Amino acid sequence: MGFLIGRRNIHFSSKIQLGFLVLFVLFLGIFNVTLGLNYTKYRQVSDLRFERIQKHINKINKPSILTIQSPDGDIIDCVHRKKQPAFDHPLLKNHKIQKTPTEKPKMKMVKIDELKEGDNRKGKEIEWQMWHLNGTRCPKGTVPVRRSTVHDVLRSKSLYDFGKKRPRSLTLARRADAPDVVNGNGHEHAIAYTGTSEEIYGAKATINVWDPSIEELNEFSLSQIWVLSGNFDGSDLNSIEAGWQVSPELYGDSRPRLFTYWTSDSYQATGCYNLLCAGFIQINSQIAIGAAISPVSSFQGSQFDITILIWKDPKLGNWWMSFGDDTLVGYWPAELFTHLTDHATMVEWGGEVVNTQANGLHTATQMGSGHFAEDGFGQASYFRNLEVVDSDNSLSAPQDIQILAENINCYDIQSSYNNDWGQHFYYGGPGRSPKCP
Ligand SMILES: *[C@@H]1O[C@H](CO)[C@@H](O)[C@H](O)[C@H]1NC(C)=O
Repeated sequence: MGFLIGRRNIHFSSKIQLGFLVLFVLFLGIFNVTLGLNYTKYRQVSDLRFERIQKHINKINKPSILTIQSPDGDIIDCVHRKKQPAFDHPLLKNHKIQKTPTEKPKMKMVKIDELKEGDNRKGKEIEWQMWHLNGTRCPKGTVPVRRSTVHDVLRSKSLYDFGKKRPRSLTLARRADAPDVVNGNGHEHAIAYTGTSEEIYGAKATINVWDPSIEELNEFSLSQIWVLSGNFDGSDLNSIEAGWQVSPELYGDSRPRLFTYWTSDSYQATGCYNLLCAGFIQINSQIAIGAAISPVSSFQGSQFDITILIWKDPKLGNWWMSFGDDTLVGYWPAELFTHLTDHATMVEWGGEVVNTQANGLHTATQMGSGHFAEDGFGQASYFRNLEVVDSDNSLSAPQDIQILAENINCYDIQSSYNNDWGQHFYYGGPGRSPKCP
């Protein structure tokens, strides 16, 4: 399948070739040939649409200094830092790249019980991504960008929807006492969240990584941190998000991938996943956003987790993201936001899935490991060492955490606290089952 479209940018020399490709795509659609791309089904595309998609792809894929082929099929382009997609944003035309934040959050409390309860039950931190197996790394001064393909767009509902999260039930007012608003859009959650109207300047957690199975192409399962500000019921919600996700629609496979997201208008016109639109500025040359995470945890076997910290630079107002112990990934420039230019009012941690109710039943799309919270370490997925960043730029365990799961027969959550894991929780579930029909 080396000739399959999407592997490379294609330059059409003649209409005939284009016609052939369209026919081929049509052929794939009719016979539902998957050619190893499990989730990829193709619809008929007109010449015009195909050209529009190709034009968009050419715009978001930037010229690469070096190209690395990942064993999972991804192509990673090492793009000059100053040529990355962010700088297509009209508000960032004159933005000066920050190579480092002015300040990193400080630990408020020193852990005294480093080596006690639960230490041997800690997941190993993941230091690398699938594409690193190639052996070649991106040179200094460049950032690795996962190349987008025509396939990626063809799997999405439309070119407009490509890379965007569909508006979720915005009023997931995160109150179990508001069931009428929490169950919108087929999005289901099992989350922990901070109380409202606090001033929050960032959040951190270490997230167990699994590869939950997804039943339908347009469903996803993710485990992430949300840093939120603005009106949940309005059209001005600001959200910064990061974690891992399995999204066959977005990536064409079922691997868990590191992702970021942002919006400043309640998931409407602004924002996107990863670097699929102008916004996030990456500075790291080794971590590709949207790339597959490896290895992943196995049931009753080795556990792996990733640590993500998001915080606001106290001086410049940019929202930084670091990965692992202390690796800076990049930042969301202050220019992108309205409410978040000040501070966040809520943080959420946890899982979200889409249940399309295909065939009238709850789908068997899994959250976390696919096991319920009560199964605990090695079986259920976890978030550990939840922390928030205060106004003095220091990290501490969040006070009065609340939890919410809309449908505990399908996905649930249990939180607790101990010295080693601090504030933590187990969450997830299998989706459809006798008790989740
Ligand atoms: C690494 O990427 C290069 C460039 O795309 C490719 O030619 C090479 O075969 C890849 N190596 C491995 C070991 O996958």
